[in-house]
Amino acid sequence: MKKGLLTLVFGSAIVLAACGGGDSKSSNGEKEELSGEKLVQRSCVTCHGGQLQGASAPALNELGAKYSEDEILDIILNGKDRMPPGLLKGQEAEAAAEYLAGLK
Ligand code: HEC
Repeated sequence: MKKGLLTLVFGSAIVLAACGGGDSKSSNGEKEELSGEKLVQRSCVTCHGGQLQGASAPALNELGAKYSEDEILDIILNGKDRMPPGLLKGQEAEAAAEYLAGLK
């Protein structure tokens, strides 16, 4: 009797573990950090405004109409007048430039 119950509990534990394994497949959230929109929200809105509508710094919400992706990347990496350089670097700067170049 007792043995039968143990087998039952053990058996369902294996089924549960298998289900858990399936779940972890969909939770690869780490790469999401490279989303340009999130990076801009994190690094740029304090000066450029929560909707990028402009605040102490000019609006960025139609930036793609003014600059190419390369020019935006250059401003992020090297700054521009009062705009500080190096707020984002490498792949993060590229992802942000790609996102901003799409705003028109
Ligand atoms: C500390 C405040 C501050 C932060 C943070 C900041 N900026 Fe700026 N940014 C400025 C200022 C000030 C200017 C205006 C520079 C000038 O005098 O031409 C500017 C200008 C710009 C311009 C040129 C706009 C134009 O119309 O010529 C771009 C592009 C830009 N910023 C992108 C970014 C991005 C992308 C981020 C986030 C990675 C960011 N900025 C974060 C202050 C900031």
